[in-house]
Amino acid sequence: MVETIQWTAGGVVMIDQTKLPLEAVYVTCKDYHEVAEAIRSMVIRGAPAIGVAAAMGVAIGVLRAPDENLDGSMEAICEELAGTRPTAVNLFWAIDRMKKLYAGLRGKSPAGIRAALVAEAQQVKLEDIAINRAMGRHGAPLIPDGKTVLTHCNAGALATAGYGTALGVIRAAVEAGKKIDVFADETRPFLQGARLTAWELQQDGIETTIITDNMAGHFLKSGRIGCVVVGADRIAANGDVANKVGTYSVAVLAKENGIPFYVAAPVSTLDLTLDSGDKIPIEQRSPKEVTEVFGVRVAPEGIAVQNPAFDVTPNRYVTAIITERGVAAAPYEESLRRLAGSV
Ligand code: MRU
Repeated sequence: MVETIQWTAGGVVMIDQTKLPLEAVYVTCKDYHEVAEAIRSMVIRGAPAIGVAAAMGVAIGVLRAPDENLDGSMEAICEELAGTRPTAVNLFWAIDRMKKLYAGLRGKSPAGIRAALVAEAQQVKLEDIAINRAMGRHGAPLIPDGKTVLTHCNAGALATAGYGTALGVIRAAVEAGKKIDVFADETRPFLQGARLTAWELQQDGIETTIITDNMAGHFLKSGRIGCVVVGADRIAANGDVANKVGTYSVAVLAKENGIPFYVAAPVSTLDLTLDSGDKIPIEQRSPKEVTEVFGVRVAPEGIAVQNPAFDVTPNRYVTAIITERGVAAAPYEESLRRLAGSV
């Protein structure tokens, strides 16, 4: 399986997701500014992968910081990384985890602090893979045998440290012997479905068909789709789910056609400080992502453009939320708090 992100002696190595599938090239971020830029420009993307990148960004930042100003450096590093993308809560979760560790290391030598932060960042990555496997085990029984699974965006190995959330559930269902194939929404404008989901599932030999986003309704009505599984960037306490823009339309169409709509996400994607999804900050990205396709202009000059990167699916459309600790169903206020509190 593809290595999304790696800690190496030379820096943080990531597969460049802006270039896939045409080129599989790796970039090395040699300092925390480069890690922040990689997150901002979506060289690395997907909520859990952004979390791992942020943890490694903190580690490489402190590794390169002068002994006499570790505290000030830590603050600047965390601030820059936190300013990269606003919606996926895993970014802030990972930075907080590194901050808490740092605070507990007071009095240790700079070398000891650096070693502990580097180890923690690598631990965040290892845990993420284990969490995705656990999510797969919980989610696989929900996937109907002999049907097509529809997914939106890329919630796979590339969006995590490995295996994936939504695609992890699909992988686990295939590993359990279920005969399923996947419909991948193309996911305009960044094309995570056509470029990334299709690429990684093809490598695994999982039968995959790309559809454009506006074809989802047609196929959800056709009787072919057994369920929808997507990932999430932030889930509010009431079970409202922020995920890649277009997810909401798929969820409404799934409910209209009586098709289960599952969200697979780690507990680190829950934001129980927000009582509803209305409070989730939605990232607005460059209009160029909409008006240009691979650098070629496809819209008139001067035209107005909106480019929200995420939308929020109200909890009433969510059949269940699959986490590494089990499956939550409505009422989500109770089920999510229970899962968040359990270890
Ligand atoms: O803008 P992106 O590509 O970072 O958005 C990614 C998504 O919306 C994913 O579905 C989500 O992060 C879950 S990834 C396991």
